Amino acid sequence: MSSTLTGRPATPVFSDLSPRLGVAVEGIDLRGTLAPGMFARLRQALLDRQVLCIRGQDIGPAEFLATMRMFGEPEIRPYIPHVEGFPEVTTISSGDRDTQGDGGRLVVGATWHTDDSFRSAPSALTALYGVEVPEVGGDTEFANLYDAYDALPEATKHRLAGLKAVHMMKPDREGIGRVRSLAPDVRAAAVPSVHPVVRTHPDTGRRSLYISRNRMDGIVGMDRAEGHRLIDELTAHAIQPRFVYRHKWRKGDLTIWDNRCLIHKANGDYPEGMRRFMRRIILLGDVPV
Ligand code: OGA
Ligand code: MN
Repeated sequence: MSSTLTGRPATPVFSDLSPRLGVAVEGIDLRGTLAPGMFARLRQALLDRQVLCIRGQDIGPAEFLATMRMFGEPEIRPYIPHVEGFPEVTTISSGDRDTQGDGGRLVVGATWHTDDSFRSAPSALTALYGVEVPEVGGDTEFANLYDAYDALPEATKHRLAGLKAVHMMKPDREGIGRVRSLAPDVRAAAVPSVHPVVRTHPDTGRRSLYISRNRMDGIVGMDRAEGHRLIDELTAHAIQPRFVYRHKWRKGDLTIWDNRCLIHKANGDYPEGMRRFMRRIILLGDVPV
């Protein structure tokens, strides 16, 4: 392959990150203008592979925001810590502390979830940019809910057809822990929503599960215990290693994921004192159907 004097490949190179999902691209510099057709390739790679990691970036919040605006409309959460002057660009830090409880260390998203399923129109895409990443730990895991759905027995698919679930900030069930949040008023902002258990992706037309265990209060029309059992079974099915990609962060990764067909999980397993600092942009999504 030819390369420029800076050592970057002259042509961006895409490579799969795992057999089932995830693709990385090297040789793109988001400080400049993208080559003609490149945005369409990035968008398609994300739709095909659900997680897109643009490696080796050295960008500020304005460039991050401009990049993500190509993919959609950023959401503003004034109550979440953000970069000064950029309310769309929130931050996730190893220094985050629980504002509602004991003031202990807060790892955002440490259980399997999809972002904002308790909203009526949950987030379509989330992007994290790794400003500081730990040498060990702090991986983000992703589970492919298209493949998890496809792999279900026909009888289960039949059972799920037409089922709807109630999603909320703090479901009333045992074993999901308490809500830990960076946001003081997040409870007040959270009204329950009802979403299909199987949704069809608006861009790919593919069906996937749409689950987020710790935000699911129950299945509409089902006994509570039975609904919880079904949610637990679907979650256990979806997070089998064959459906999971575990992203080991490199500094300068800009990783974008599709909340409509994945669940993901943060790992707070890096040693105390080691820093992890991410900038984050969430893009608005549609009502799931
Ligand atoms: C998120 C999230 C995972 C991580 O930003 O929504 O779940 O690994 N983050 O920080
Ligand atoms: Mn998340």
